[in-house]
Amino acid sequence: MKEQLELIKVNALAALEAAETPAALDEQRVKWLGKKGELTAVLKMMGKLSAEERPVMGQMANAVRAELEAKLEERKAAINAAVLEAKLASESIDVTIPGEEVTLGHQHPMNQVLQQVKDIFVGMGYTVVDGPEVEYADYNFTRLNIEEGHPSRDRSDTFYFTDDDSVLLRTQTSSMQIRFMENHQPPLCMLAPGRVFRKDEADATHSPMFHQIEGLVVAEDITMGNLKDVLITIMRKIYGHDANVRFRPHHFPFTEPSCEMDMQCHKCHGTGEVDGKVCSTCHGEGWIELLGAGMVHPEVLRNCGIDPDKYSGFAFGMGLERMAMGRLKITDLRLIFDNNIKFLEQF
Ligand code: DAH
Repeated sequence: MKEQLELIKVNALAALEAAETPAALDEQRVKWLGKKGELTAVLKMMGKLSAEERPVMGQMANAVRAELEAKLEERKAAINAAVLEAKLASESIDVTIPGEEVTLGHQHPMNQVLQQVKDIFVGMGYTVVDGPEVEYADYNFTRLNIEEGHPSRDRSDTFYFTDDDSVLLRTQTSSMQIRFMENHQPPLCMLAPGRVFRKDEADATHSPMFHQIEGLVVAEDITMGNLKDVLITIMRKIYGHDANVRFRPHHFPFTEPSCEMDMQCHKCHGTGEVDGKVCSTCHGEGWIELLGAGMVHPEVLRNCGIDPDKYSGFAFGMGLERMAMGRLKITDLRLIFDNNIKFLEQF
């Protein structure tokens, strides 16, 4: 047995010394020191020895194991160092090569226009607020005086979450009028930009998701004159002093009287024609509808606990994409959402 141990020691030391990769070294470790390895096989035969021989052999076997383990560690360190050395030698870094330039993006054109609109209104004393996109029908419709059965409540127009049609994706930021008046007493000036959702197919002027900016002013003695003044002021600030707008009578359940405001088409300058063809931006109208507005309906004020005999107000809701398209002369709404870098870089 003594000779066997000697033999294992000599052979194992030589084999470990010869291993040159981590894998080869591990293979040798298993072969000599593993559970089914050579040394273990010898130890298993200890039982056959006499009582005097056993401790002597046991001691010797342990010494061999310790020596092999020490060798293993030594080789492991040497091999790892060699691997690292080889890696460093093969990877040379030229620190003088210029780095890759980091290109800094810029604000999305739509956000540029939103920022501009917000700045103007903040300058006029408006509070900018944010609200939920998942909304109660109560805020989106009912308390805005939009009765049951109104076409805008239809399931073919609105995304509902519940079978009883009580929770939906807001179809208009007008819901924020109610939310704001619930918590604020007049005099108040609010601006609420945000996303709205409708079941529309996307085309040059429609998208199932778009942005609106809602405005609301309630105080004593507010008139339609104040409304027109604010809207004309903002249009001139955004589109320049020669911006042409017009007001048309309209109907909204939550305002009375109501109107829409159009801006003269930036493509055909109101003629409805470009190079003898119908203008594709305004479809030959010469005008582009920008917003709905009106004097807040007394019923809406009452629904928010505000006395309509004491206070009056105006409200407006404009389409942000439409504004951006006019401001930046973009002819197709879809370009705003496509995230095409070539397109966005122009602004
Ligand atoms: N919410 C209306 C829409 O989405 C737009 C609108 C019209 C908002 C009149 C108003 C308003 O605040 O007074 O078509």
